[in-house]
Amino acid sequence: MTSLNEETIRNKLVKCGQEHLLAFYGDLDAHEKSALLEDIDGIDFDLMSRLYARAQHGSHDMQQEGTCDISPLRGVDSTAMPAPQKEKMRALGLKELSEGRMAALTMAGGQGTRLGHTGPKGTYDIGLPSHKSLFEIQSDGLKRISAEAGRPVLWYIMTSHINHSETESFFREHGYFGYGKENIIFFRQEKIPALDRSGRLLLEDKHTVLKSPNGNGGMFSSLKKAGGFDHMKKCGIKYLFVCGIDNCLVKMADPLFLGFKVSGGYRAVAKSFLKRTADEKAGVLCMKNGHPCVIEYTEIPEDLAALKNEDGEWTYGDTNVLNYIFDTDLAEELAGEGLDYHVAVKKLKYLDTDTGKNAEIPDGYKFELFLFDAFSKIDRLGILRIERTEEFSPVKNKTGIDSAESARVMYMNMYGDGSRDCMEEIK
Ligand code: UD1
Repeated sequence: MTSLNEETIRNKLVKCGQEHLLAFYGDLDAHEKSALLEDIDGIDFDLMSRLYARAQHGSHDMQQEGTCDISPLRGVDSTAMPAPQKEKMRALGLKELSEGRMAALTMAGGQGTRLGHTGPKGTYDIGLPSHKSLFEIQSDGLKRISAEAGRPVLWYIMTSHINHSETESFFREHGYFGYGKENIIFFRQEKIPALDRSGRLLLEDKHTVLKSPNGNGGMFSSLKKAGGFDHMKKCGIKYLFVCGIDNCLVKMADPLFLGFKVSGGYRAVAKSFLKRTADEKAGVLCMKNGHPCVIEYTEIPEDLAALKNEDGEWTYGDTNVLNYIFDTDLAEELAGEGLDYHVAVKKLKYLDTDTGKNAEIPDGYKFELFLFDAFSKIDRLGILRIERTEEFSPVKNKTGIDSAESARVMYMNMYGDGSRDCMEEIK
């Protein structure tokens, strides 16, 4: 039971105009009271008021950052590499994998609101004949590479408070897709309160403040908090392959990508593909004030996105796949570096403290850290441009572009629908 005192917390809330968070305090049992006080005590109200000010001024919007010096950043084109060079690189990466030096990490803490799927996004069935989920698609990819490397690749899965238990149960119910429970480690990412348009924090229920996952940039510090880096050190892991959950063509723990990193002496690498349209919903890679960076599609000025060279190519064409490899010691260093929050205007469901009823606002503020903001702190970052039809087919929408429909077709073309049950041979 917490030793936190109601009066201290109430005074703190009064000072920052958030005392409505205790509106139902009198209705709560002892356990709920202490949970709420602890929840509130953990909130950084100074940070929240700075974020509110930023939200009102839109200061993460490139159009307002007139002083930025932006220039293009091109990837090394893997599609133009001679086959022997590629084979050599891949063999180098595979050797590292066979010595157990790389782990994979899937960031699956997001809400997947665009898809309209209620469960964790990784549980989504894109409609293949086998009906395998996005999680199973990734485990199949890991099985393939583990069989080649002759040992299983350790798999970290980042969840969040909104989907952690559902994710774990899904894996349990599906027998960990035959990948081996011992090879999979779940950890939870951190969360941050949302705000309404007047800067008020909201309640989710009578004893819980409304919070959302703190963005995929929360990965570094959340992994550290969960003891992930200590675990990796114990297992002799030097590299961390990182991807999102929604690209059904992702090459899990790709040996070519790792070989590119090792042979280039990079501390981190990112994959890029060439965008098709100026308004593609993906971030573009560039140099900003002398450092590598990604400008997210939600923040790029239209004229910059549409800019073309004399030869008709996009000036800012290399686009973020959301697929990276970091040296683990670099990833641990980055856990200590503060990233800046981005603001998103989103629908918020909450418990109205005036009426005591569930309510919804269409335009609340959510805050997210973007993993790629860490790029500016990396001295040697390599970019590998890949062929999008082979490696990029994200499931973002129900139908149309980047949807389950398009992903299904592209997945069947690349992999068919079988899975290799090869874990037994390599255990
Ligand atoms: C992301 C990239 C974008 C890239 C595109 C390619 C970011 C911020 N944006 O866009 O640059 O071009 O993919 O498809 O990286 N996630 C968490 N926790 C969170 C939020 C997200 O784990 O709190 C995970 C999601 O589950 C997902 C991934 O991060 O796997 C990206 O999600 P999202 O933030 O929705 O970015 P996208 O719009 O997909």
